[in-house]
Amino acid sequence: MKTTRLVHKVIKFWARKPVELYLREIKDAKLVLDPFAGSGTSGMATVLAGSSAILADINPVAVFISWSLLNKSTLEEETIRRFQELCNELEEEAYALLVNGQRRVLNYAVWVTEFQCPKCGNWVDPRRTRYNGKLKCTHCGALFYPFTSSDRRDKVILLFSEKKVIRNQQLIREYQEDGKAFVSTSWHPKGEFRYEELGKNFRECPGILAPKLEDLFTKRNLYVASKLYEEIEDFWTEDADQGDLLKLAFIAALPQATKMIPHTDSSGPSWKLPRYWIPYIREERNFCRSFLRRLFLVHNFKKNWIKAVENHEVTVCFDLNSNSKYIFGTGREVTILRYDARILLDLDIKADVIVMDPPHYDEVHYFELLYLWQKWLEGRYGDPRFSDYSFWRYEIDVNEVVGRTFSDYLSSIVLLVNKSEKLVRRRGRIVIILHNRSSMMFNKTINMLRRKIDGHFKMEIERYRPRVRSSAQGIHGKEKFLYIIRLIKN
Ligand SMILES: C[S@@+](CC[C@H](N)C(=O)[O-])C[C@H]1O[C@@H](n2cnc3c(N)ncnc32)[C@H](O)[C@@H]1O
Ligand SMILES: [Zn+2]
Repeated sequence: MKTTRLVHKVIKFWARKPVELYLREIKDAKLVLDPFAGSGTSGMATVLAGSSAILADINPVAVFISWSLLNKSTLEEETIRRFQELCNELEEEAYALLVNGQRRVLNYAVWVTEFQCPKCGNWVDPRRTRYNGKLKCTHCGALFYPFTSSDRRDKVILLFSEKKVIRNQQLIREYQEDGKAFVSTSWHPKGEFRYEELGKNFRECPGILAPKLEDLFTKRNLYVASKLYEEIEDFWTEDADQGDLLKLAFIAALPQATKMIPHTDSSGPSWKLPRYWIPYIREERNFCRSFLRRLFLVHNFKKNWIKAVENHEVTVCFDLNSNSKYIFGTGREVTILRYDARILLDLDIKADVIVMDPPHYDEVHYFELLYLWQKWLEGRYGDPRFSDYSFWRYEIDVNEVVGRTFSDYLSSIVLLVNKSEKLVRRRGRIVIILHNRSSMMFNKTINMLRRKIDGHFKMEIERYRPRVRSSAQGIHGKEKFLYIIRLIKN
């Protein structure tokens, strides 16, 4: 498979764009600037095109993803072997079963949450009786919302191992009972999903089942994930490059360890939900397998990538407040900075293309997964690369909770375009990628830009339909098309 497609399999990223789109936009550019670099897709395109780029993102996790994908380190066979062994041991401990005297390894268990009828106390299974979010009591017929139930309980309803469904009630009960004994003694992050310093939660939690980070996992999976991460961190203290790649594979697999994997008969598991919402019927996956699968994907991707990036210099700086003067040489370079887009565009440089893919201008709650990732990455050693949580102040988006409106968003975009105009060389261009969520907002953005741009620029608008499968586009895979706005300097 081509490197450009492999990258989508390695790790999902919110609103990631296809590498092909960037390849087309940066054609012939010597220096590309991307102030909203996300997972580094434009950096990949730059390398493939033999050009140089400066990438910035305010989010340390985005910087980490770009860096570990784009740099020259690869996984060593020895590292892989060691983690294969560890996963085998953990698998034996957490997911091995005896079925009719034969050892089987679990792929996943299906859990269901039942709700107690507030009127008669009967337990209601949500599988058969859902009416517009209300449940119907099979005993007294009352209709009620799950959050008004007098109590709830979780139970395992089936096990799935080696392509076979296990319905043996005795085994299922044992599996559920055994699950209670998993108490994780290794470090793992805890607490609410909060804007630190603001003292507010990201928003009302839509699922009633996960107010805290640790509530996202079953005891069994939290045990396995934290044990595995402990080993990864230990490894990392000895070999930071290998350690970072292991961490990349770990965070990429982490969604699979959560209770957020819906179970349906028709489709396999995937991170389909754009928020931390726990479905009533869900899968508890064998996390050892999810992790190893990612590890091999990272390995394959990097093995290919190393050939493409051979002649480039890739560097990173995680320090938001670094004032050092970056000296950009004449070689092929990719520089990844944890920077505010507005600061990046104050640099004294001339670029051929500035590509901008700012956050969506409707409220997209991607925070939860990035926050969860950041908490794990900060880890038990308090890795300083990830210790800052206050950057939400400088994010450019529309966010009611922190009080950022659409008009703030528009002013930021206009400011960025004004700054970019000064940095673009003649015949160069500013490329802005916007989503089609609301034509009203899109038209406002366009009108505003038309009024503000300098007479030396010509505007082009294109509707672009990514050819990537929607599931590969990121956590929010619903985009139908993108608007590409090109401002071309005469
Ligand atoms: C739509 S994503 C970019 C996705 C990217 N094009 C890719 O393919 O992976 C937008 C990014 O903008 C970043 N961002 C938001 N506010 C920012 C700011 N003020 N400065 C720099 N980056 C910012 C977010 O952290 C997020 O990673
Ligand atoms: Zn009832």
